[in-house]
Amino acid sequence: MKNPIGVFDSGIGGLTVLREITRLLPNENTIYLGDTARVPYGSKSKEAIERYSFEIADFLQKRGIKMLVAACNTASAYAVPRLKEELDIPVIGVIEPGAKAALNLTRSGRIGVIGTEGTIKSNSYVNAMNALRNDETVEIKEHGERSLDRYFEIRTSKMVIFTKACPLFVPLAEEGWTSNDVARLTVEHYLRGLKKEGIDTLVLGCTHYPLLKEAISDCMGEGVALIDSAEATAAEVMRVLTGKGILNDAKGTASHGFFVTDSPERFLHVGRRFYGDGLDSAELANLEGQ
Ligand code: DGL
Repeated sequence: MKNPIGVFDSGIGGLTVLREITRLLPNENTIYLGDTARVPYGSKSKEAIERYSFEIADFLQKRGIKMLVAACNTASAYAVPRLKEELDIPVIGVIEPGAKAALNLTRSGRIGVIGTEGTIKSNSYVNAMNALRNDETVEIKEHGERSLDRYFEIRTSKMVIFTKACPLFVPLAEEGWTSNDVARLTVEHYLRGLKKEGIDTLVLGCTHYPLLKEAISDCMGEGVALIDSAEATAAEVMRVLTGKGILNDAKGTASHGFFVTDSPERFLHVGRRFYGDGLDSAELANLEGQ
């Protein structure tokens, strides 16, 4: 089936997911929508994120998508459950694939999850891991006094999961400050708590964090494996398309359309950092007047 895969994010970050999808499935046509007018999603309410996500799904469905990928952790946490229920095309978020990858990799059962405030508050990664392992939360402890230090320790009957919101990682990645002193210090500050908890796996639960992979890995040390949800999600997209028999088997060059809800110029400029070559034009999408 040559209909495109629809991919959306609050803005630019989801391009890291799209990049992995196009790498793994070079034959697939795609349409990406970055909601640059309403970014960030990470600090907004569930109600707002659900509403935005349905508007975007509508826009993309009118363009004939065969599958919807919420390439945003916050939208995956808050809106994917309802999108899955209400749309009649397959819907994939980034949380379940990331959670699955973490469970496959951990040996000690001590796992860290970092993300936006919304993603951490929603507890979606913990819930997804519990569902996958048939496990349940038995105790939640809060550590740290100030918001910069605060992280959560969630004990389940089989694992200990440490979750931490790292809101400043998003502007750092957008600014391209991913390996300078400011980035390294910010990473050290945010991850100080998790570092002493002896985790062996850390989920990068936000689209922007793969850009800070080097600084995060240097801070956490070699013994901690980093899970990039983007790679795990691309593998899940392939699995679902293959399972449903809707991969694109038409030969020819795949087309990749880009839409944004504000300022295509900034999207193209910053987006190249996330996507690399091939991001040459983006159209303005009017979600209200669609
Ligand atoms: N795309 C968002 C996420 O993965 C990060 C940026 C935002 O807060 O909108 O959660």
